[in-house]
Amino acid sequence: MTDLKAEPLKAELLEVALEAAARAGSFLRDGRPADLGVAATKTSAVDVVTEMDIASEKLITGFLAERRPNDGVLGEEGASTTGSSGVTWVIDPIDGTVNYLYGRPDWSVSIAARLGDETLVGVVAAPLRGETYRAVLGEGAYVNDRPARVRVAPPFEQALVGTGFGYLAARRARQADVVRELVPHVRDIRRCGSAAIDLCDVALGRLDAYYERGLNPWDLAAGDLIAREAGALTGGRPGEVPSGELTIAAAPGLFEQLQTRLEELGAWHD
Ligand code: IPD
Ligand code: CA
Repeated sequence: MTDLKAEPLKAELLEVALEAAARAGSFLRDGRPADLGVAATKTSAVDVVTEMDIASEKLITGFLAERRPNDGVLGEEGASTTGSSGVTWVIDPIDGTVNYLYGRPDWSVSIAARLGDETLVGVVAAPLRGETYRAVLGEGAYVNDRPARVRVAPPFEQALVGTGFGYLAARRARQADVVRELVPHVRDIRRCGSAAIDLCDVALGRLDAYYERGLNPWDLAAGDLIAREAGALTGGRPGEVPSGELTIAAAPGLFEQLQTRLEELGAWHD
């Protein structure tokens, strides 16, 4: 029987993911129109799509179709095919679209390769940071070619915690309530605007922890693997894996405390 998780498969998926992310990252960095505008809105008037989100997804799916024609794809801008190989690519062509629209640097291209429910490979390219983060299941996480490692967990009150907000007003109001309860009890809060980068920042020790409600699979698939391979624990509500309900990533020791606190605060519901 073919071992679908065999090393040559993982190595090939990594190489393809790195190349796809590099191509899309260069295209987005070098091709951003000075007068970039909003092409469409999604869940609310502030949930925007630019022509570059759509073009980036086309570039990535076109490249994957050439290199891995039998794989499935799931992309934020609508790409959705099943494939026959068992591998599915989960793609965010620009994570941090609002930052990209405003010319802010924290946006990324996030590409993960999944086999069933398991993510085998994750790549997050952040061109304006000059960094690409990557991980292969069981093989560690890297920033460019340096190993990535989480920071040793500080006491809860010294934790630097990243988070984010959804696009719907009612959800944001709840998320603000949760932050209001947390902020007096931690070092500080950060909101960078790209969930994929937040997860990688935990992997790199640039954040002690990150949590957010309302993420989609393409926001978190690659970053979750990168955080775990760098030594973080990730999850959702107690006993759950990261999901749209709640995603948490932090170093062991801090993770459990944050998960308990978020459960008490009801961070998993609107
Ligand atoms: C968003 C970003 C943001 C997070 C939102 C996501 P998008 O993705 O990751 O940081 O707070 O929940 O929807 O819309 O820029 O691809
Ligand atoms: Ca996204």
